[in-house]
Amino acid sequence: MYQITSRLQPDFEMICGNFKGKDIVSLDQFAVADLDKLFTVTRQMKRIAENNEPSRLLEGLLVGLLFFEPSSRTFSSFAAAVKRLGGQTIEMQNPEAFSSVSKGETFEDTIQVMEAYTNAIVLRHRFSGAAEQAARAANFVPVINAGDGNNEHPTQTLLDMYTLHERFGRLDNLTGLLAGDALNSRTIHSLLRGLSLYENNTMYVLSPRQLQLSRDDFVSLQDRGIRLIEIHREQDIPHDCDFWYWTRVQKERFASAEEYRRAQSEIVVASPALLETYAKKDMILMDPLPRVESVDPAVDADERAVYLRSQIRNGVYTRMALLALVLGRI
Ligand code: CP
Repeated sequence: MYQITSRLQPDFEMICGNFKGKDIVSLDQFAVADLDKLFTVTRQMKRIAENNEPSRLLEGLLVGLLFFEPSSRTFSSFAAAVKRLGGQTIEMQNPEAFSSVSKGETFEDTIQVMEAYTNAIVLRHRFSGAAEQAARAANFVPVINAGDGNNEHPTQTLLDMYTLHERFGRLDNLTGLLAGDALNSRTIHSLLRGLSLYENNTMYVLSPRQLQLSRDDFVSLQDRGIRLIEIHREQDIPHDCDFWYWTRVQKERFASAEEYRRAQSEIVVASPALLETYAKKDMILMDPLPRVESVDPAVDADERAVYLRSQIRNGVYTRMALLALVLGRI
C-alpha cells in the first residue's frame, strides 16, 4: 500500500532554544535548556487546565491528529491540549480503514493533504521512522511524533520527565528501574535518551533476555554517559531506586502469538508484594500505560503509584506547552 523507509541518517533539527516550526521527532533534538523551557511553560499550562481557564493561545489554529495505530492517552491528551488552548483538531484514526489510504493513497500524499488543512500534524504510526519520513514529506507545517513503531515516543518522555522533575526537583543523580519490554518499548528508548542528558543517572533495566535492549541501543546509550545495568531476575532488583518505570510486553511487535506468550510468561509483575520487598517508601511507580498483566491493579491504591494520577494528567500539560511553543504562540 505504501512504504516507510528505514532511518539511515537522522536529519532532524536540534531545538536550540527555539521550538517554533520545528518537527519533534526524537528526544535527540533536545538539550537540557530546551527541557527547562518546556517545563516552565508546562507549569503555566497546568494552571490553565486545573483552573479550567479559557485560553485563546491556539485560537485560529488547527492541529491534525493522524493516528495509524490505536491510542487512548496520546490521542486524547493531544486533543485535550489543543482544545484547552482554544484551537481545533482534525482527527483521523485508523486511516488505513477510514481514509483514502485504503484506496492506495501514498503516505507522502496523505501527509501533504493533512498539512494543507492544518497548522501542525501529530502522527502515530506502527513503523519505526514514519515520523521522520512524514517530517520530510511535510513542507509547511511541523510534524510531532506521537510514537513510531518500537523507535521513539518523545512526547511521552516529555511528560515522564516532567513527572520526575515535579516529584524530585531534579533530573540528575537518579536511580531508576525500567522494567518490561526494553527491546520494543519506544517509551523506554526515548526516556533513556532524555535521562542521558543529565549527570550521574543510573538505570537498571529489568527484562527477560529476549526483551533486553538491542545491542546497538545499549552501546549507543552507554556512550552518552548514562549508567545502564541489565538485570533479568526479580531478586536482582535494587532497594534504592527513586522510581520504577513499568512497561507491558508489546504484543503487536511479535511475529507470533506463541512468541508473545512465552515472553509474557517471563516478565516480573509489579505487585504489592514486589513493592513491599524492593521499593523505597519515597519512590514513585510510573507506567506509560496501557498496562497488560504488567502492573497489578492492587497497587493502584498505593500513593507511590502515579500512573493514573499525575503521570497521565501531565500528558495534557506538557503537550499544551509543546504545541504552544512549536506553533509559535509563546
Ligand atoms: N502511553 C501511550 O502512548 O498510551 P496510548 O498508546 O494509549 O497513547
